[in-house]
Amino acid sequence: MATVPNSNFDEPFFQSADKFFTTNCSTGLTFDDITLATLYSEILPRDTQFDTVLAENLRLNIPVISSDMDTVTESRMAIAMALNGGLGLLHYNMPEKQQLSEVSRVKNHVHGLIQDPIKISPDQLVGDVLELIEEKKFGFSTFPVVDGKGKLVGLLPGHVVKPRYAQRKIAEAMQPRAQIHTINKMELGKDPIARADKFFTENLGIHKLLVVDDEDCLCGLITLNDVERITAERTAQFKPARDAHFRLICGAAISATRNAFGDLDKKRILEHVSNLVERGLDVVAVSTAHGYTKGVGDTVRVLRDAFPQLPIIAGNVTSAAGVDFLADCGANAIKVGQGPASICTTRIVAGIGIPQLTALYVCSLAAAKKKVSIISDGGITKSGDMVKALTLSHAVICGGIFAGCDETPGEIVEISGNHYKRYRGMGSMGAMKAGSAARYGHAKNPTQKVAPEGIEALKEASGSVDRVLAQFIGGIQSGMGYLGAVNLAQLRDKARYIRVTAAGVREAAPHDVVEL
Ligand code: XMP
Repeated sequence: MATVPNSNFDEPFFQSADKFFTTNCSTGLTFDDITLATLYSEILPRDTQFDTVLAENLRLNIPVISSDMDTVTESRMAIAMALNGGLGLLHYNMPEKQQLSEVSRVKNHVHGLIQDPIKISPDQLVGDVLELIEEKKFGFSTFPVVDGKGKLVGLLPGHVVKPRYAQRKIAEAMQPRAQIHTINKMELGKDPIARADKFFTENLGIHKLLVVDDEDCLCGLITLNDVERITAERTAQFKPARDAHFRLICGAAISATRNAFGDLDKKRILEHVSNLVERGLDVVAVSTAHGYTKGVGDTVRVLRDAFPQLPIIAGNVTSAAGVDFLADCGANAIKVGQGPASICTTRIVAGIGIPQLTALYVCSLAAAKKKVSIISDGGITKSGDMVKALTLSHAVICGGIFAGCDETPGEIVEISGNHYKRYRGMGSMGAMKAGSAARYGHAKNPTQKVAPEGIEALKEASGSVDRVLAQFIGGIQSGMGYLGAVNLAQLRDKARYIRVTAAGVREAAPHDVVEL
């Protein structure tokens, strides 16, 4: 692409991050305080690329993460985020055992080769299988049949799993071993999906391929539907975020847990994180309101020593010193944000926090020096905010924009014919009582004497994550198109800023019209 110089006339007005934030260094600025200048562009919004690297082993296909809040991210949200190319951080306001199951749900979400398919035995009845489907809410009805030693003996096809056959034994309803299509796991090679794709093309009408070992024990199942979905995915613009084994990626938050004596409970933290890692966790987030603390630093250090390859996110901080500290402790990505969030009252209650863009700029200086990434956490309400945040960070964490989605925990609430979902700060009294008090440095069972730093609220129901993300992604693409940035590195490099006044904020929104 030819280099097109900016006119010298523009330079004093539309400044690079270094010039702009240094000139404005005595004022804390946030999203609505600035706007970005347009630049020469040869980039169409649809051609922009969004992949971002948060750590050596952590790459996302879109730079968006759902927040580790108990009204935002459990497995359903984490699956939806990863399918869209982003990441979900499972919250920790639940028993550790449950957090492990949530990780398993994400990691076992259909990923081509189902390594541990649900099996049944030849002695069971079709009625037992119907009950199992009802109880576990399975969305499929074809099951491999194995004997007591795990040897494949048959396949129960979906078309016989019907109440009229409830009293029939599986042994008489199943297709016998000789009729089942199998492949030895050694033959799958490096790309099991490509191998299975070839098999399904060669075997007209066959939809299931069972994987066995040399002893004929069942070790996997591949379905035609999954193979077709994954093959289509390979040509999509924003691919799901997957690990090396083609499973969706998943993150989980933990706190700097203390024992009864008030000391960091290193043993418990290590045990829990090793269990998470065993389930396939891709990234752990040490997530607290104040990350520039001994407790968070020690937690990160302990984890870094025990898991040299595990990507670690830590926070939150709003100063270069905080970034330096967490980077030195071993964090790969640092969460920036104290007080910008939609349900947050930290600035009102504690009188602390830095407006988000200034915090991001200051932190980005230290992050560049330490070669860590930074993640903008909180305060995003519009796609334009995302574009602005991404000029200074590698990804954004959002709670509020996802809180009304179908995939969040909790039911839809109807009030006067309108539909809402509950959204609460993790520092709200309700969330702290449910377990998140440690995140705000309070004892386990907070009383009314503890000042909450978040509120409990409602968000309008907003449909699926796919729908909400599509709007935001479209906005980022537009922003990048206006700046002539083909990727996020160029967006960070090219951004030019100017301050706006209250009149400028008014001018930026629709005005002087009757909106339809
Ligand atoms: P948004 O603006 O996306 O922010 O709703 C989500 C982020 O808010 C942070 N968070 C809190 N901050 N008090 C706070 O000061 C709270 O109770 C609270 N709960 C969550 C958190 O960083 C999240 O990602």
